Amino acid sequence: MDAGRSRGKRLYMGLGMPISYKPKNRLASLLDIRFSLKSVLLNRLPSFGYKLFEVFMGERVVEYAFVHSNILMETKQRILDVGSYGSVLPVELACFGHKVYSVDVLAYPLEHPNLTFVQGDIYNIPFPDNFFDTVTAVSTVEHVGLGRYGDPLHPDGDRRAILEMIRVLKKGGKAIITVPFGERTVSYHRGVAMNRVYDLPSLEQLLEGLQIQKRVIYGKQGGFWMPVTPEQAANLKREDATEEKSVALLVASKGQG
Ligand SMILES: C[S@@+](CC[C@H](N)C(=O)[O-])C[C@H]1O[C@@H](n2cnc3c(N)ncnc32)[C@H](O)[C@@H]1O
Repeated sequence: MDAGRSRGKRLYMGLGMPISYKPKNRLASLLDIRFSLKSVLLNRLPSFGYKLFEVFMGERVVEYAFVHSNILMETKQRILDVGSYGSVLPVELACFGHKVYSVDVLAYPLEHPNLTFVQGDIYNIPFPDNFFDTVTAVSTVEHVGLGRYGDPLHPDGDRRAILEMIRVLKKGGKAIITVPFGERTVSYHRGVAMNRVYDLPSLEQLLEGLQIQKRVIYGKQGGFWMPVTPEQAANLKREDATEEKSVALLVASKGQG
């Protein structure tokens, strides 16, 4: 996404980021001037800026496409997005006419008439049993319970999140879930527990109670996201400490029983 202009004012857009921030007052403007050197370089002097800053493509490029390709646009659904902070997905789904609810421990800044945001913990969501047609969780379940986002610590937070998602899903409803894939571990960066990584057996355990209908693995090779086999994914090297080298994209349904 490029920096744009609107009625002579600069629009504050992050590179490739659908969410951007515009200063609301003088203090914010001053702070913005102080800290916006990177975007000035990238937007105004790109040939110089791109020598200084690398543009990298995170796993969202395949994750959001996967979610959209598995939600029928023709049928308007009641959808819950879990862990929405920083994501434009709930708004995208709301724009298409779905009735969207989203939950996160962190506040969500975007609004839409078809979107209801609930700030809180996935373990205590205020929705009845069998309520949603679809639940989406993009790169969220692997974080739950590790405390990185100020969420309560639970060693089995990922499984507890899945159980709550199963509870609120209608019978026959779909969960669309994306998580890091590779050697089973918890990955750390500068001493902070970043996220869990799942292999095939741990994925099956995590999703017990749901029937896996689709599972594809994407890996990043030479800077590009491509479909890979689980074996290829296991051999991939991380290109950036804060980025995933491969992700599992899943559609799983709640049985009718
Ligand atoms: C890596 S972010 C993913 C955000 C988003 N889905 C996206 O597509 O970029 C993980 C999100 O999970 C949220 N989260 C972590 N633990 C949670 C919990 N117990 N309840 C609700 N949200 C939680 C975090 O606040 C964070 O916004």
